[in-house]
Amino acid sequence: MKRDLLGVGDLTPAESADVFALARAMKHEPKGARLNALAGRSIAIVLEKASTRTRVSFEVGAAQLGAHPVVIPMQGSQLMRGEPVRDTARVLASYSDMIIYRTSERTRLEEMATAKVPVVNALSDDGHPVQVLCDIFTIEEALAVPIRQVRVSFVGDCASNMARSWVEAAGVFGFALKLAAPEGYMPPASALALGKGNVTLTHDPSEAGVDVDVVNTDVWASMGQEDEATERFSALTGFTVNEAMLRKSPSAIVLHCLPAHRGEEIDEETLEGPRSRVWSQAENRLHVQKALMLWLLTR
Ligand code: CP
Ligand code: NVA
Repeated sequence: MKRDLLGVGDLTPAESADVFALARAMKHEPKGARLNALAGRSIAIVLEKASTRTRVSFEVGAAQLGAHPVVIPMQGSQLMRGEPVRDTARVLASYSDMIIYRTSERTRLEEMATAKVPVVNALSDDGHPVQVLCDIFTIEEALAVPIRQVRVSFVGDCASNMARSWVEAAGVFGFALKLAAPEGYMPPASALALGKGNVTLTHDPSEAGVDVDVVNTDVWASMGQEDEATERFSALTGFTVNEAMLRKSPSAIVLHCLPAHRGEEIDEETLEGPRSRVWSQAENRLHVQKALMLWLLTR
């Protein structure tokens, strides 16, 4: 039976560990080492929102595995002219072996998942699971301990897709997650329930960096929220990740999925400083997603 990855919980921790082991192996191989792995396969990458990292890491990753990636960008596809997602899913599945999909509402994602081939969520309003799986890989690589032993905080817009996938990950992997955000910027109760009691909330930014090993943040206005940027900036002021916030956790590392808005959710010194793992985090998108594509198509 085909497997989809619509949320972090679609893989068990043991399955994620298998994907991470494959990613660790591939990271140290020459780029052309697995050119026959998915030879003859095609991977459709459907993007209804902008993307740099997700698009390029999946596209290059597919090519490095010998598969043919087909990018269907937001402009120019019939989806953007109103063709039903379900019809698109049916047709794309008859041409390709996997669909990678970046969209907005969960319902669109679920419609795409009616396809007969595996569907991977490449960001939606309610999550960015491949990013968070890659981030967990990066944390285990940086700290050399299993994620269940790591104390993570997410600071800023905790209602964002990134924060929601972190909440789901806390429930699946069983690690402690602290969310630090102003009132009105926390996930809805239904999303928090996925954290299975492993999530604590604070509205006090001075608590965000206390007793944690990893501090995550993301933009204050996600794609589609540009019109709310001024209001969001004023509500989230004080939640910038910076050295003052982190001084009680001298060894904490910092992650940001990128793109970053320096001076808003994170300052330049922290993004470029010794705590930052942001650039290896971005590189690991390639290794982990290559492993994920291979695992989904050959398990
Ligand atoms: N982090 C991330 O998904 O980046 P892109 O929007 O550039 O794909
Ligand atoms: N929360 C951000 C993540 C971008 C990778 C957004 O949805 O725009």
